[in-house]
Amino acid sequence: MSNNELVTNTLSGVIKNLSAQEIQEKLESPKSSDLGDIAFPTFALAKLLRKYPQQIAEDIVSKIDQTLFEKVVATGPYVNFFFDKVSTSQSVLTEILSQKNEFGTNKDGNQSKVTIDMSSPNIAKPMSMGHLRSTVIGNALANITAKNGYIPVKINHLGDWGTQFGKLIYAYKTWGSEEEVKADPIATLLRYYVEFHEKAKVNETLNDEGRAWFKKLEDGDEEALKLWEWFRAESLKEFTEIYDRLDITFDSFNGEAFYNDKMDKVVDTLEKKEILIESQGAKIVDLSDVNPNLTPAMIKRTDGATLYMTRDLAAAVYRKETYNFAKSLYVVGGEQREHFVQMKAVLSLMGFDWADDVEHIAFGLITFNGKKMSTRKGDVVLLKDVLNDAHDLALKQIQEKNPSLSHKELVAEQVGAGAVVFHDLMNDRTNNFDFNLEEVVRFEGDTGPYVQYTNARALSILRKSEKDVSISSDELQLDDIATWNIISTLNQFPSIIKRSWQQREASIIAKYALNLSRAFNKYYANSKILTVDDQLNARLALVKSVSIVLSESLRLLGVKAPEEM
Ligand code: ARG
Repeated sequence: MSNNELVTNTLSGVIKNLSAQEIQEKLESPKSSDLGDIAFPTFALAKLLRKYPQQIAEDIVSKIDQTLFEKVVATGPYVNFFFDKVSTSQSVLTEILSQKNEFGTNKDGNQSKVTIDMSSPNIAKPMSMGHLRSTVIGNALANITAKNGYIPVKINHLGDWGTQFGKLIYAYKTWGSEEEVKADPIATLLRYYVEFHEKAKVNETLNDEGRAWFKKLEDGDEEALKLWEWFRAESLKEFTEIYDRLDITFDSFNGEAFYNDKMDKVVDTLEKKEILIESQGAKIVDLSDVNPNLTPAMIKRTDGATLYMTRDLAAAVYRKETYNFAKSLYVVGGEQREHFVQMKAVLSLMGFDWADDVEHIAFGLITFNGKKMSTRKGDVVLLKDVLNDAHDLALKQIQEKNPSLSHKELVAEQVGAGAVVFHDLMNDRTNNFDFNLEEVVRFEGDTGPYVQYTNARALSILRKSEKDVSISSDELQLDDIATWNIISTLNQFPSIIKRSWQQREASIIAKYALNLSRAFNKYYANSKILTVDDQLNARLALVKSVSIVLSESLRLLGVKAPEEM
């Protein structure tokens, strides 16, 4: 039993008004070790019982079996648990060394499915930093769901349909060339698109031309379809380069176009339920009964064309029917909040009780050296360039620190990409943040490379020791303070895993990995780990456990853990 479970069970025995799960969700790790190892705040109980939190904390302490812990005390509104250091060290290290990367895995999800709509860039446009965020947050959440016993289904809902493709076809046919597109697909297509908009400002009939080509596309015109398929394939090739660099895969690339033949069903249901109404020639669902602040969801335009919303409704239904998800997540920027509130509202009006399982996982805006990015005007920061620059910065530091390292290029790629990904995941996802590559790729401070470096350092100690690390119960006497900091941090990992899923926050794991790295580096600076004495094996067990948990944390975040750097 982990210490977390021990505390939960103990508290369950004396608190009748909260379920074990509710108790566990409230457990905190105290800021400093003189407040113990796990704290239980009593505020929620105080509300329920109409008593002072301080009083409740004392009542709980008086009822608890103290023999299971070093001590349990009430500090103001908190119940603070102090674990027996020697036995805790022993049980944590034993658990980690025997379970290895399975440490912290739980079965909460019962193998049910979680669909994750992620990345979802738009064809013929460069992938933006926002899409990068969606990709890496989605990927980390997929790993986290799996760690919590669910089966993730990663879906790339490509933006591959809409009137813009009519414009693009017109532009390509009128002033584009095959060679140009082949040489540099996305940049060229983007240029055509930008040029189209410039020309349309002067000559409005261009918009009609664009619409006409989109209509042809929708009607299955062979030429239009062929061009569209080609644009899509060329774009996907470029996106794949980025996915490969980040080592991120998808279970489905069904984008918006996939739902073309699945929207009638949605429209039928809306009609049958009598919630589809005409408004100025368009078809809409009025949502003011659900929430007076919501604007209507637009289902069909005046010309009968479907919209982003129509396709998303079809996709939501398709996903439920295909995967029978327990949760359906949409990792999409916060600027689309209203869209997803509307979508959920329409799904509930359609009578789907699973609408409650649909969640918009919003995230904040990234700026790059203070600048916002936009694709409309074409002044974009290309992701490829960001990753290339990160690679170069990593390589420079490796050359300074470890000039004899083999596979420098490979490690530089793992560190560069890892730095970008880690930085993206380190902040609460809804925060906006600025991106400065120099800071992000540093080997010290709150960075991915710092965690990678710490892990590589631990692995290098293990290599030097040339010993197989074993667990033998009588050797573990790791009860000094620096060691204890590591042990109690390692001990938190299983609850960190649960919490990161409950809050849909990969940042909880990233922050945890930084904490564990700091604890380990403090220890490393002050102890002679490799000295031969009767504690050697115990110290190596500690080092090995740190590297297991650090590598697993990095894996969950989608960051590589190089063995040397
Ligand atoms: N392609 C959209 C964009 O770039 C994001 C799609 C998000 N997913 C969804 N099911 N709507 O803004």
